[in-house]
Amino acid sequence: MDKTQSIVIVGAGVFGLSTALYLAEDGFSSITVMDRSMPPVPDGSSNDISRVIRFDYGDPVYAKMGRDAYELWNTSPDYADSFHRTPCVWTAQQSGPADLVSAGGSDFIRKTKKILTDMGCEWHNLDNVTALKDRFPTVSGTPIGAGFEGFYNNAAGWADAGLAITGLRDRCIRAGVSFVTGRHGHVTSLEKGSDGGVTAVRTIDGGRITADQFILATGAWTASLVPSWNTMVATAQIVGFVRLTPEEVKRLKDLPIIFNLSTGFFSFPPHEQTGYLKVACHSFGYTLSSSNVSSPPSEAISQRANFIPEEGRQRLLAGLGEILPELVARGFEKTCLCWYNETPTGDFIFDRHPEHKNVFVATGGTGHAYKFLPVIGEYIAKAFLGQLPADLAERWKFHTDYRSRAQDDLFTGASARGGGDGSRGGPGRREFTAQERDRLLTLTNALVRRPAKI
Ligand SMILES: Cc1cc2nc3c(=O)[nH]c(=O)nc-3n(C[C@H](O)[C@H](O)[C@H](O)COP(=O)(O)OP(=O)(O)OC[C@H]3O[C@@H](n4cnc5c(N)ncnc54)[C@H](O)[C@@H]3O)c2cc1C
Ligand SMILES: *[C@@H]1O[C@H](CO)[C@@H](O)[C@H](O)[C@H]1NC(C)=O
Ligand SMILES: *[C@@H]1O[C@H](CO)[C@@H](O)[C@H](O)[C@H]1NC(C)=O
Ligand SMILES: *[C@@H]1O[C@H](CO)[C@@H](O)[C@H](O)[C@H]1NC(C)=O
Repeated sequence: MDKTQSIVIVGAGVFGLSTALYLAEDGFSSITVMDRSMPPVPDGSSNDISRVIRFDYGDPVYAKMGRDAYELWNTSPDYADSFHRTPCVWTAQQSGPADLVSAGGSDFIRKTKKILTDMGCEWHNLDNVTALKDRFPTVSGTPIGAGFEGFYNNAAGWADAGLAITGLRDRCIRAGVSFVTGRHGHVTSLEKGSDGGVTAVRTIDGGRITADQFILATGAWTASLVPSWNTMVATAQIVGFVRLTPEEVKRLKDLPIIFNLSTGFFSFPPHEQTGYLKVACHSFGYTLSSSNVSSPPSEAISQRANFIPEEGRQRLLAGLGEILPELVARGFEKTCLCWYNETPTGDFIFDRHPEHKNVFVATGGTGHAYKFLPVIGEYIAKAFLGQLPADLAERWKFHTDYRSRAQDDLFTGASARGGGDGSRGGPGRREFTAQERDRLLTLTNALVRRPAKI
């Protein structure tokens, strides 16, 4: 491809920025990144106080990519301020309340241990809850643990997600990437030319930006911008933040990352700068649909709304109670939703859009893409340039063959193993109730950035 062609990348999350940096360093001379807000985008999926960095995967391709990424997180000066090395613990319960327990947990643990062994990586078994508490004495609770199984990997950690995105953005700026953000960066539609190609993107301020090539890295918003034929669905996931005292931050600093595969619950060590302990659920989530397309609210906001469904709050508190029961009564200072763009298999989509030859789509993070920040730009750029090995091109293709399948069949619940590799747990996906939807939209609307009145 001619490196003087103009390339517009819509979306300044992990996928968009890492692609922009790789292409700029590869010599492409006209790259513009557009977004609704300057990155780190307040409600973008790549922005938060933390994301888990691990290469424990039940799939050898992501395990290998994850290990390459981990090596860079752990050793490159580019990530020294944002990466924190911490063991990652995986637990599951072989039997439990039928509606809450996913059968995927044991399966994930078995496959992952085998893959780690095959890669020559160390992992450590946890035979029972006592072994868990002996190795990690900061776990003050006693998980019920009937049928407990688990292991941990010391080669893992977490990244301050917003901070690492800031660093990536600044490297893009130094490499000559242009940014258009705010209302002139907020794309509302694609302008089609007579030959089926796209000539420009139209923006919410009435403007248009032309380019030779377009890359949509629009995360959970993608299906609201281009037809997707059931190949992706946006789901909202729950997150809670507990306010800690400075003494508690110190006392809990050696807390590992803990996943409970039976419920999807996971937790991080304290985040020193904010004094928050963050917990979340890697689950099947909620949809917010309009004309059968689920999408996060689209207007640019200053921060995420302080809202999750009440039943989700109870799940987060129950998970917290298993490991740090003394914090349950305090509850969450704030909660929020964070959006996954799911694919039926949990694989990314790095491919040309079937309808437009100069529109490439880089999405389908499916709740696990952040960790690949140091390496993913190369894979996306190679897919864009048609240089991926055939097996990866096949894995990350844009499927149109899901069109005739029901979304529920493709994505929902433990039985369908929706969105993934078996690392999910918790109740099946559902649409927000009318009441939840009203509350979310009302709170979100109050946070919309509006030009000041004169
Ligand atoms: C709660 C939660 C926990 C997670 N935990 C982990 C974890 O521990 N480890 C891990 O590896 N991954 C994790 N993930 C997944 C990871 O964060 C995502 O897979 C990844 O951030 C997706 O990146 P992205 O670039 O596709 O999306 P985003 O970061 O959302 O970027 C898309 C961007 O496109 C912009 N955009 C959308 N539409 C338009 C438009 N029309 N015009 C202009 N701009 C537009 C948006 O503003 C946004 O900034 C988690 C995700 C969530 C939600
Ligand atoms: C827990 O597992 C350890 C081995 O890791 C074993 O020595 C111990 O006896 C077990 N404890 C119980 C209560 O089963
Ligand atoms: C995981 O969740 C199950 C079901 O709620 C629970 O019984 C078990 O104790 C939990 N394990 C841990 C380590 O929190
Ligand atoms: C939404 O999907 C349902 C079930 O597949 C279908 O009956 C309905 O017509 C669709 N509605 C719209 C607006 O596309």
